[in-house]
Amino acid sequence: MRVLAFSLLSMLALALPAAAEQPEEIFDRACGTCHFKQRDPARRDEMIAPPMDMMAAHLRQVTGPERAVFVARVLDFIKAPAEAKAVDAMAVQRFGLMPPIGDTFPELTDGQLNAVANWIFDRFATAQVPPQGQQRGRMAP
Ligand code: HEC
Repeated sequence: MRVLAFSLLSMLALALPAAAEQPEEIFDRACGTCHFKQRDPARRDEMIAPPMDMMAAHLRQVTGPERAVFVARVLDFIKAPAEAKAVDAMAVQRFGLMPPIGDTFPELTDGQLNAVANWIFDRFATAQVPPQGQQRGRMAP
């Protein structure tokens, strides 16, 4: 009986398509190798890229509240980063320019990148850039 139940289960597992990777999982395994999700002053020394909540807050200041504008700007930047496009000059100064996502994670499809950009828009909807003084402290080398 147990053997039968087991084989039925394995057949079922084979029949189901692999569950699609959720945007947050893509963020964690790709973007998350460089970006923390949240600003955390206690871990500043571990940062090799700016935290995503801060980047989202900076981006929103530039793009306004429109999802499509925000998402398009994120996608354009991560595919072809350039200093002139960056919303946070201090981040570029401190960490260097982000390498194109196609160099570090070439297997990510446009659909996956689009899903991640939309997830960032939602997840950090209320993120705020910290007050000037604190921000300078955060970015000082
Ligand atoms: C190899 C490290 C690395 C990886 C991987 C990485 N980033 Fe970055 N990213 C950076 C660094 C460093 C910066 C800050 C300097 C700059 O703006 O280029 C940055 C900046 C950004 C910005 C700010 C863009 C702007 O308009 O100024 C966004 C948004 C961003 N990354 C999103 C992502 C997303 C989404 C992913 C995953 C799909 C990702 N990053 C993966 C290193 C990385």
